[in-house]
Amino acid sequence: MIRSVLLGTGSALPPRRVANDDLAQSLDTSDAWIRERTGIAARRIADASTTTADLATEAAARALAAAGLAPSAIDLVVLATATPDRTFPATATRVQARLGITRGAAFDVAAVCSGFVYALTVADSLLKAGQGQRALVIGAETFSRILDWDDRSTAVLFGDGAGAVVLEARATPEGEAPRGLLAARLRADGRHEDLLYVDGGPGSTGTVGRLRMAGREVFRHAVHNLAEVTGEILAEAAIPVEAIDWLVPHQANLRIIEATARKLGLPMSRVIVTVDEHANTSAASIPLALDCAVRDGRIRQGQLCLLEAMGGGFTWGAVLLRI
Ligand code: UT7
Repeated sequence: MIRSVLLGTGSALPPRRVANDDLAQSLDTSDAWIRERTGIAARRIADASTTTADLATEAAARALAAAGLAPSAIDLVVLATATPDRTFPATATRVQARLGITRGAAFDVAAVCSGFVYALTVADSLLKAGQGQRALVIGAETFSRILDWDDRSTAVLFGDGAGAVVLEARATPEGEAPRGLLAARLRADGRHEDLLYVDGGPGSTGTVGRLRMAGREVFRHAVHNLAEVTGEILAEAAIPVEAIDWLVPHQANLRIIEATARKLGLPMSRVIVTVDEHANTSAASIPLALDCAVRDGRIRQGQLCLLEAMGGGFTWGAVLLRI
């Protein structure tokens, strides 16, 4: 059976680190409130000249270097973002051009915070369908551009960044444990749009929008939906939770991450947490967390990772990936 095997990871963060105390200078908030309610200590914010494509290209180049591949080896660029550089073309095609890739296909996926889980699943399906041999899957965001910096209930939660992985379609050799993407489950329920959305933006409305969120409601749905989808994917794949080496969750709020791990029965020692330093980077959060843990040696070849995310739409999903 052909599976999409992970060959390398990479990430990129803007250099400017904004601590909670920095935000408390212009907002009615405090380091204590933000840490206690979210687990966030700081976030990275892009300077005015840095776009989503810039961060995405840097992360992708690092993932290619980690995989030991030239850009010309890539057949497919799938980029998840809710903050594209332009309404069109897709940010994926900008990244493709900057990397010097002139063949194959490139497009964006819009599923907000679930974007990377969606993009990974779409890329895996295309590789399995024979649409190419290798894919770059990227999650990249500049959420700082769509925040209402006067709204303390959202401005403190998000950050900018990008993460990328290289996948290769490979047949599992006889007698070997399968590596790569083992299972995926995607969900959406568009009835909940009004709980988390941008009130305008490029496209048919012709306006520039800002992020709006009913945080407590989103929190409640996130805990429920993530418990459901992670339970379902493990049951379907017939994999016991004890077999999971690492939970690599979307990094929105430490309390949501802890609740999901608790419901799964996984100790926090087997959960990758980056929300403290990155805050919520939407589609970038999972590949950023993955890259951090691969580079610091926690996540190693042969280990089983459970990725999960939930975001605006609502959209949510989970992926089982053997590294
Ligand atoms: O990635 C996409 C998915 N997004 C999420 O998963 C986010 C989900 N939601 C959350 O993470 C949490 O709901 C928040 C972190 C957004 C808020 O935490 P909460 O425990 O749900 O707080 P709350 O919204 O119920 O607000 C509690 C109080 C309110 O004051 P009152 O009404 O009790 O007087 C807020 O006005 O905290 C106040 N508050 C703040 N205080 C200081 C809200 N934001 C802040 C702030 N600093 N930044």
